[in-house]
Amino acid sequence: MSFLPKPHGGTLIQAFHPDFDFSHIDKEIEIDAVALSDLELIGVGVFSPLTGFLGKEDYESVVANMRLANNTIWSIPVTLPVSYEFAETLKKDEEVKLVFSEEVYGVIKISEWYEPDLNKEALFVYQTQELAHPGVKRLFDRGRVYVAGDITLINKPEKGIFRDVWFEPKKTRALFEKNGWKTVVGFQTRNPIHRAHEYIQKAALETVDGLFVHPLVGETKSDDIPADIRLKSYRTLLENYYPKDRVQLGVYPAAMRYAGPREAIFHAIARKNFGCTHFIVGRDHAGVGNYYGTYDAQKIFGNFSEQELGIKPLFFEHSFYCNKCEGMASDKTCPHNIEDRVILSGTKVREMLRSGVTPPSTFSRKEVVEVLIDGLKDHVEV
Ligand code: ADX
Repeated sequence: MSFLPKPHGGTLIQAFHPDFDFSHIDKEIEIDAVALSDLELIGVGVFSPLTGFLGKEDYESVVANMRLANNTIWSIPVTLPVSYEFAETLKKDEEVKLVFSEEVYGVIKISEWYEPDLNKEALFVYQTQELAHPGVKRLFDRGRVYVAGDITLINKPEKGIFRDVWFEPKKTRALFEKNGWKTVVGFQTRNPIHRAHEYIQKAALETVDGLFVHPLVGETKSDDIPADIRLKSYRTLLENYYPKDRVQLGVYPAAMRYAGPREAIFHAIARKNFGCTHFIVGRDHAGVGNYYGTYDAQKIFGNFSEQELGIKPLFFEHSFYCNKCEGMASDKTCPHNIEDRVILSGTKVREMLRSGVTPPSTFSRKEVVEVLIDGLKDHVEV
């Protein structure tokens, strides 16, 4: 008997069919890196219960109510945008190849296509229409017609240096069970793991059987630290400071949306599909700039019962090293003043690392900083 949660919607979707014959299909959609990642994640069940890109009814319901049309909780639209010109050539029920860099990765069976209200999507999902928001910018840069239909994943994208740390939900569930973990807490990040991250991970681990360190390695904004450099830093940190029998490292090849609260729900549901029972939500989860309040990504969980969500969020207050406490602490546990606390913004830390300046060891472990500075010195920002 498994103690792990049921996949969202009840079934782990498995739509990978490498032998699928597409020789009779001529029409193709040239997909971007985000759609490629979505295609794969639908195909291997990370986005269960989705079996394809959202149709109009589901899309409108997700945007307005954070639920699919059948009422299942779903907070971020997963859509396949194309141009008006291309949409004019489509026929209902036809199959179309999904192509990236001249390689066929999947097929979509077209159920419908529709014009989304992008202004509404921006406002409801991202809470802003400003193009300075990277998620909103991407939304408006992509096609203006959404194509919907079930997909077949035919070819899985090459994982390169992430190959040995990419585990599909079926595999992570088996790994957790093999370890005898009945409770597993998932941790999402798009950053290196600094002391505050480590603190909340380990505080969470004190209360559960296993920790799944699950950094996002899909598309991120250009000034985020590249995933390959981060991976080295995660390996170094785990090697030196984490118990092997309680911690599993894996990567999450999804695109970052920067949708703050809505993305926290989305991240939690995806981690449930990987088999996590708990999910960490700290301060400004999946946030960018000042678009969201510090704890909005925690408050949004209040809209859903834990039973319906099927994964328990673990909330953490803003954490930091306090010189007076002589240890890690948070607003909840530290009585001292701001001057006693080691607090650096993400932007400031990235600036320091890029110019070879070492942040204090109370902010980030020295082994981690060494790997990051070394990795970033040859890296040109694109
Ligand atoms: S992101 O994916 O959520 O954008 P980030 O690295 O900023 O990545 O955060 C990863 C997780 O750690 C999130 O749940 C976030 O809320 C939490 N977190 C980051 N920094 C802190 C901090 N100083 N105190 C408490 N929680 C934090």
